[in-house]
Amino acid sequence: RRRTAILISGRGSNMVALLEAARAADFPAEIALVLSNRADAGGLALAAAAGVPTAVVESRPFGRDRAAHEAAVQVALEAHGIELICLAGYMRLLTPYLVGRWAGRMLNIHPSLLPAFPGLDTHARALAAGARLHGCTVHWVTEEMDAGPILAQAAVPVLPEDTEESLGARVLTQEHRIYPAALRLAAGGEVSWPPGSAVLANPLPSPLPLS
Ligand code: GAR
Repeated sequence: RRRTAILISGRGSNMVALLEAARAADFPAEIALVLSNRADAGGLALAAAAGVPTAVVESRPFGRDRAAHEAAVQVALEAHGIELICLAGYMRLLTPYLVGRWAGRMLNIHPSLLPAFPGLDTHARALAAGARLHGCTVHWVTEEMDAGPILAQAAVPVLPEDTEESLGARVLTQEHRIYPAALRLAAGGEVSWPPGSAVLANPLPSPLPLS
């Protein structure tokens, strides 16, 4: 089982979905660390309650020196023997320091159908654009934000009465489904992205849930 770290900044609902999936005996990843850049991240208590080691490497004291913060994160990752990273609501732009070290071994989940709507406020922007379909994406992390090779996606309809909250909730349900599925494939070696190469055949089904 590949020793996996989940990096969070907030409530950690995707983290919980990954923790629950990893409880299955045949799951190829073991969640060996939950690391937050904020001491007040709600997900930390949930991870601790699940018996998972936690670490806090506050980003605030490092100010604009992102690489210095990442060096401290890297120390924690190495101390826990981490082999794979899942970013799950980790609200930090990454620099080449961390991305380069973890290329092909770092996944992110993003609340839109990339390449549409990289960045923040994705649900409000999908509504404002009049999108009829919206969703979420699990991708390998590269230096360009929210732009790495795509591993899994799920789409949801945008309904006429949707608000940012109702649409976000519909997407989040799908995030909790596809992130564990994607981690299973990546940790099990069924999909890989050796940096510089094309993504291997993608065996995940891509259903369009219509209800
Ligand atoms: C999730 O919707 C995730 O896709 C998003 O933040 C939320 C975290 O929720 N990530 C990003 O926007 C990354 N740019 P969670 O803490 O409950 O998993």
